[in-house]
Amino acid sequence: MSDRGPSKLQRCGLLLRNLFIALLAYTSVVGVVHVYRTGSISPFSKTAPKPAVIPEGSLSGGVNWRLRPETLVRDINDAYLGERPHVDTYANYTRLIEACRGSAAQLERMRNVYNCLAYLSGNEKDYYYLPDQLPSKSLPTYPSVEGALKPSRKNVGECAGPVQLYHTYWTGPSTWRVELFVKSYLYTQNLPCSRLYIWLDSDGNPNAVEDMMKDPGFQRFLPLVARGDITLKAWKFPSRIPLPKGSIEQDPLYKSYLSSRGAIDEKINAKGEAYIGDGLMVQKDGSEWIVLTERQMTFLPVAVSDAVRFVVLHLYGGVYLDMDILLLRDMRPLLLTPDHNFAERWAVHSHPGDFNTAVLSLNANSSLSSYLVRGGVRMGLNFHPRIVGRMAWKDGRVEELAMFETGLFDPIWGEFNWGREGRCTVPCFKDYGVAFLGTREVIKDEWQSYDGTPLPLKTIGGSNTELKRRDTTTNDNDNDHKIELYYEQKTAMRRRLQRRNNLKITASGQTELDDEVAEELLPEVNAAAAEAQKAATRRKPVAKGADGTYGGRDYRIEEDKYPPNNRTLENFFRGAFSYHIHNQWTKHPQPNSWFDVIQRAQDGFFRGERTNPYGERWEGPEVKPYDRWPEFD
Ligand SMILES: *[C@@H]1O[C@H](CO)[C@@H](O)[C@H](O)[C@H]1NC(C)=O
Ligand SMILES: *[C@@H]1O[C@H](CO)[C@@H](O)[C@H](O)[C@H]1NC(C)=O
Ligand SMILES: *[C@@H]1O[C@H](CO)[C@@H](O)[C@H](O)[C@H]1NC(C)=O
Repeated sequence: MSDRGPSKLQRCGLLLRNLFIALLAYTSVVGVVHVYRTGSISPFSKTAPKPAVIPEGSLSGGVNWRLRPETLVRDINDAYLGERPHVDTYANYTRLIEACRGSAAQLERMRNVYNCLAYLSGNEKDYYYLPDQLPSKSLPTYPSVEGALKPSRKNVGECAGPVQLYHTYWTGPSTWRVELFVKSYLYTQNLPCSRLYIWLDSDGNPNAVEDMMKDPGFQRFLPLVARGDITLKAWKFPSRIPLPKGSIEQDPLYKSYLSSRGAIDEKINAKGEAYIGDGLMVQKDGSEWIVLTERQMTFLPVAVSDAVRFVVLHLYGGVYLDMDILLLRDMRPLLLTPDHNFAERWAVHSHPGDFNTAVLSLNANSSLSSYLVRGGVRMGLNFHPRIVGRMAWKDGRVEELAMFETGLFDPIWGEFNWGREGRCTVPCFKDYGVAFLGTREVIKDEWQSYDGTPLPLKTIGGSNTELKRRDTTTNDNDNDHKIELYYEQKTAMRRRLQRRNNLKITASGQTELDDEVAEELLPEVNAAAAEAQKAATRRKPVAKGADGTYGGRDYRIEEDKYPPNNRTLENFFRGAFSYHIHNQWTKHPQPNSWFDVIQRAQDGFFRGERTNPYGERWEGPEVKPYDRWPEFD
């Protein structure tokens, strides 16, 4: 560099050069956009006219998504879990823990999730049992197992025994993830015997419940709110939490208080309250409370949801599930068991206090729930699971909270950092993200541990696809309309069949599905379906897209970025009670990803075409299917 500044001439030249570069950059960008939009390098060519109609929907992953087959395989077994556990079933926690953990000292089996899942899916008889005193007979008000009202459109049905509560917590609008959570609950749980409480943060938004009721994403569940399956609850951090009688007396603090200040009765203040100290209070009527300080109420913790689960379970009992828990099996046997206090291990950490509370179950108003809530409050409203867990361990109370291994609720957690032993799971996931992916062979060796016979393949493409066989008479484009109509008819017929059947049940006192009635109606179903096909044939053929690539072309699997595959829910961590998605709140499932396979299984169930894993049909109100994600078009 020279020691003199640039001359006027030099500066002018510099300016001109920069302007030129900017112009060049501008024209090249515009040019690229132009070429991209018009497919021509001539600056005078106009934007190619968009096809006037794209009746078949836009392209998804390179193909017409309406023609994309749902699967590559035949003989999908939706009812893979067999009959639902009897309403009185208990789970033997000792068996479940030992089978998946080994001994408490050695933890021999902790890292072998494959074996744990194999045990869970194949040995129900070993860890489920009917107790001598049946819960369904414990109260005279319970209906009999056989006589309990089945669920219907407007009625959730009756439970022969105690109803279990399922809690979750949410802030903000109802997203796809809320939908996935709720539908998985409806798809797997024993609905007459379960209720779902969705706790909505109302400290931050006092209108949270009203907002949710109006939320477009939540509209599809309003009939289930009406039926009583789902309750929206406003979560406000309570300033006082009741304790079961006698808990203060058990507290060491109480004794030191008495020794230093004498009887509690004498200390009752004008408000009728006596403070024992450290947030404990006894009222004149003898009721006992945890009282939060003003400071605690002002500076509520960031991790409110950590606290919600403990407080809510202490007050109501049941099970708490984080919204990113995807239920896969009926939880009732785990929840019906007396002293159903459990959580999950923090990955494969060996410390007996290292809990994860994404799934947490506690008996309401119990000594343990009181202790845990009080502990978290005392630690400054810190309810981090590993903090609370280690506290319980130090206090010698950790044994009261059963620790289940990750195989039950989060089967791939052991894959990371700490290494697993034995085989990978089915499917073999090495990463929480892959469940969202649907591109070709994106999950390396996902079937490496699958020993079953491969499901028979359908032929895709060519003239003998499933789609085409239904449609030999007309234009391909009409396929989907026809199929839709066909299913609409079939669903309508099935509903009629049920209605008639119900009539018959009341008349004759039968409870089982009457095969004769079904037989009798079968020709009608077939006739209606044939009629629907004919009607579809008469419909005007749909216009092809002007550019010839929309709709008018056969589906070609080679061109599909998200091709159908042989994934089915039957092979999704079979044996596990849930799959933990681990956050990833803004992701959406690509077509034909595992989550998409789950969505379609659920959509089929709510449409009345498929069963749930227990072979049951949906008896409830209409539930709108999942939306498509345009980002994968
Ligand atoms: C549960 O399993 C344990 C360990 O196998 C066994 O000792 C116990 O008797 C079982 N309990 C019941 C109620 O079957
Ligand atoms: C727990 O105790 C509180 C206060 O005593 C009571 O309101 C509530 O109904 C109890 N919950 C259950 C499930 O027993
Ligand atoms: C799915 O396909 C893979 C090969 O592509 C195969 O190894 C596996 O066994 C199949 N699984 C099922 C359930 O058919």
